[in-house]
Amino acid sequence: MGQSAEQSTAARVQTLRSQLQAASYAYYVLDAPDLPDEVYDRLYRELQDLEAAHPELVTPDSPTQRVGERPAAQFTSVRHNIPLYSLENAFDLAEFRAWEERWRRQAPDVGAVDYVAELKIDGNALALTYENGLLVRGVTRGDGVAGEEITQNVRTIRSIPLRLNTDTPPAVVEVRGEAFLALDVFEQINAERAERGEAPFANPRNAAAGTLRQLDSRIVAARKLDFFAYTVHFHEGENSKFKIQNSKLSPSTQWAALQLLQSLGFRVNPNRQLCRSAADVQAYYDEWATRRARLSYLTDGVVVKLNDFALQQQLGFTQKFPRWAVALKYPAEEVPTILENVSFQVGRTGAVTPVAELHPVQLAGTTVARATLHNADRLAELDIHQGDTVIVRKAGEIIPEVVRVLAELRPDHATKIAMPTHCPQCGSPLVKPEDEAVTRCINSSCPAIVQGAIIHWTRRDALDIEGLGEKWVKQLVEQGLVQSVADLYGLSEQVLEPLDRMGQRLAQKLVGAIAASKARPWAAVLYGLGIRHVGTVNAKTLAQHFLTVEALAAASPERIETVHTIGPEIAQAVAQWFQVPANQTLIDRLRQAGLQLAATPEEQAQAAGPLAGKTFVLTGTLPTLTRPEATELIEAAGGKVTSSVSKATDYLVAGEKAGSKLTKAESLGIAILSETDLRALIA
Ligand code: IVH
Repeated sequence: MGQSAEQSTAARVQTLRSQLQAASYAYYVLDAPDLPDEVYDRLYRELQDLEAAHPELVTPDSPTQRVGERPAAQFTSVRHNIPLYSLENAFDLAEFRAWEERWRRQAPDVGAVDYVAELKIDGNALALTYENGLLVRGVTRGDGVAGEEITQNVRTIRSIPLRLNTDTPPAVVEVRGEAFLALDVFEQINAERAERGEAPFANPRNAAAGTLRQLDSRIVAARKLDFFAYTVHFHEGENSKFKIQNSKLSPSTQWAALQLLQSLGFRVNPNRQLCRSAADVQAYYDEWATRRARLSYLTDGVVVKLNDFALQQQLGFTQKFPRWAVALKYPAEEVPTILENVSFQVGRTGAVTPVAELHPVQLAGTTVARATLHNADRLAELDIHQGDTVIVRKAGEIIPEVVRVLAELRPDHATKIAMPTHCPQCGSPLVKPEDEAVTRCINSSCPAIVQGAIIHWTRRDALDIEGLGEKWVKQLVEQGLVQSVADLYGLSEQVLEPLDRMGQRLAQKLVGAIAASKARPWAAVLYGLGIRHVGTVNAKTLAQHFLTVEALAAASPERIETVHTIGPEIAQAVAQWFQVPANQTLIDRLRQAGLQLAATPEEQAQAAGPLAGKTFVLTGTLPTLTRPEATELIEAAGGKVTSSVSKATDYLVAGEKAGSKLTKAESLGIAILSETDLRALIA
């Protein structure tokens, strides 16, 4: 190839890189996508091809270089140039005022000051080093003095620029901020872990920490970490040229530093505020006390920093903290309390869950008296004893759990709590497969299992039997009136009326509600059966493909697996369920009782609709349709709507303010539709 041709290839590579980089910035940092996905993909592939043909043109800041090929063997420990200090906590405005008085005693001549209030992101601090504008190193906080070098993983975070957006970069600059996982991403990771039988992460912070320490950066890339930058350190001496050339860019306040970070290409939290007084700080703190619940990530407080860097420098640091900043925390989401007892709950699948009965405590605004201990493994790991002081946590949407035991506070002669060997409900021996975390009761007539199965049967998405709540089901099972869901259809007013607090009117209503459930569609009945892995979505899919219960019962696992989105595990569970004689009897009895065990003619028409067999996910705000309306439209045309994007998704319908689902769909190469596209597809 001639010299000019090489030059033009190099120029093309350069153009592609800046176009891709700009699009990625718009998408991940500004949250304002400006390039259609197909175009991005086309440019990306062109760049990949050119780089493959001309390896000498590959640069470390190329968008193609975000994900490494080979897992790291281990991480190396790196000493921080400047320690990563932690922050002193204040729990209310009085404590904030006390902090303020303390720094003022150190700087008695200082008059009115400005503070910068920022959200305290509940993630993991990272220190990023850029040399001559290029990202060369990413290090975890570690113990604050030394951390682990995880550059390869940091490169996968799309909101971290690989090259600073400036023509005159400083020789060395260190940017610090918080890596975190958005709540929906966190939930998805946990759902995937649960599916694989792995223990869930307790909270997004742990999930982010675990992700950052993954040795395989390809896994990190799939987990969608995000990053907010909050400080910038210029290493003195090495940057005089930069400082002179960028006098405007060399900040003298925190407020300007955040502005600078933003202009260098970082994502900076937009919810920051310049405060002129403690009253302003209080107003900001109060405002976010409620607003933070609506954020897509967790914050555990507000960080208040003195705005003026000269004053910051004058005040300096204690052994552990900067004197010029304080974390104004929101009420604890982790509190100590006393473990009074442990009870063992048996769920509808027979899974036995240890539950901590606690001395009631206030936690994140609610009273907590019970918390999950998850399973036998967790129980053993915690080494929990009666009367122990335990730490209970509630974060975001997560149910309270015992996270730690303070063994040093254990009362003398306390008895250790162990998993029972026999079912606390029916007394039959419990089983725990070696490779599973779950301990199970496998007696299908165990009252706890029967009760759970009936409650599941009554759920709105299943047979939707209104009024048949837990307390009635408990009585019915305990009195031997109901041993299976089929027995519900033999109940009469005369049998129900004598139950404690029932009465004639309620009995009449319940009998009516039970009778009405016979009209529920085949898919709802299938879901109601409570077969493992068959949730509402899988039930709908299966019911659409197998138009009668006979067809489904006769299908081999291999046949069931041919259905789009149905994997081998689900297929196996379904086929196995229909093999069990007691389940076959149950189906016969339900048929006799008059339940819908086949698709209606309309449903059959739907199964042949234009969207039959296609799986959709909705995200963002659509111009005219609400979520339920869009769902109805898709389902009426034979399509299926699920809540999270996976390889099984056929289309993502995206409206305005689409978030991480869009990102994920794009990375999986899933077709993205607008509302108009959707309507066109149906028409
Ligand atoms: S500034 C020297 N700003 O909170 C002061 N920290 O409890 C450095 N954090 O280790 C911290 N959001 O991981 C600062 N806007 C924010 C923050 C923030 C979260 C974390 C950070 C730090 C911890 C201290």
